[in-house]
Amino acid sequence: MRTTTARAYPNIALVKYWGKADEELILPAAGSLSLTLNHFETTTTVVPAPDAETDVLELDGALADPGQTDRISTFLDHVRALAGRDDRVLVRSRNSVPTGAGLASSASGFAALATAAAAAFDLDLAPRDLSRLARRGSGSACRSIPDGIAVWHAGDDAASFAETVPAPDMRMIIVTVNRARKAVSSREAMRLTAATSPFYSGWVTSTEDYLEQMVAACASGDFTRIGEITESHALRMHGLIQSTVPPIRFLNPTSHAIFDAVAEARESGIEAYSTADAGPNVAVIVRPADAEALAEKLSGFGDVRVVGPGPGAHLLTADDAVPPADAVNPAAGEGSRA
Ligand code: PMV
Repeated sequence: MRTTTARAYPNIALVKYWGKADEELILPAAGSLSLTLNHFETTTTVVPAPDAETDVLELDGALADPGQTDRISTFLDHVRALAGRDDRVLVRSRNSVPTGAGLASSASGFAALATAAAAAFDLDLAPRDLSRLARRGSGSACRSIPDGIAVWHAGDDAASFAETVPAPDMRMIIVTVNRARKAVSSREAMRLTAATSPFYSGWVTSTEDYLEQMVAACASGDFTRIGEITESHALRMHGLIQSTVPPIRFLNPTSHAIFDAVAEARESGIEAYSTADAGPNVAVIVRPADAEALAEKLSGFGDVRVVGPGPGAHLLTADDAVPPADAVNPAAGEGSRA
């Protein structure tokens, strides 16, 4: 085993994943398609701790809470099973995106962890197998393993991985309206939707249709069709989520105002389309030439950042290792690790 560091970027789905066919294996009920970003990265260092009894997680310079540590420990059990070893590890992870605020930090987090942990345990995985491994941490994480625009295939364990597909260049404007951690996790909300929404089966079949159309639109470089599907599918997902019992709403009045402002921009000749994940923040796709002008128009709604297609998860050198929590924040390591 060795100490390794990896970096991964979040992805924002243009055809959304919402609902599982298998909770244990994290197999999606339908395929999805996303853009991996070139900002908001997670960097993760995995340090072998052969004498430790438990895994330890340091997140953003502080010891993580037991729930977060359990979740990564369960994920690391898959890595240990593949490697045929039972060593514990110390994981140091740093997010440049607010954790759990609907900006896909779980995707970048588990993609970085899968990449660093596989290397730390000397596993030599093919890209699709690394994507399958990341999927076990958080479904959408499998789409942050490949570069750029990626399709995550539905199917059985062997078939359910993400891979890059050809697509035209585009920009995404991320409008962060709220950095707070969301009240309901995607995992919980998804479960509730599948269990209680009368629209769920229609959602699953129509998502497969949209995915097929989206892959074709990407292949032919049809930005208008890509955008129309993106916005329509996002609104369908939020309608579906609002139809759960009890209802869940992730979009707030500012999110709706951004959807309206983007529709107005379209009327005035800037072609752009909105989407949003399980939170109030909005992501807008736009042609590269229009990105700065539209970002300026949206800057009154929150923090605005123009991002583009980013690289898949990759290993870094030892120089980029995440520093220990007690080096960042001397109070963090003291006593709390006992
Ligand atoms: O991978 P999870 O469990 O964080 O779920 C992600 C769900 C959405 O972000 C709302 C949609 C998607 O396809 O990324």
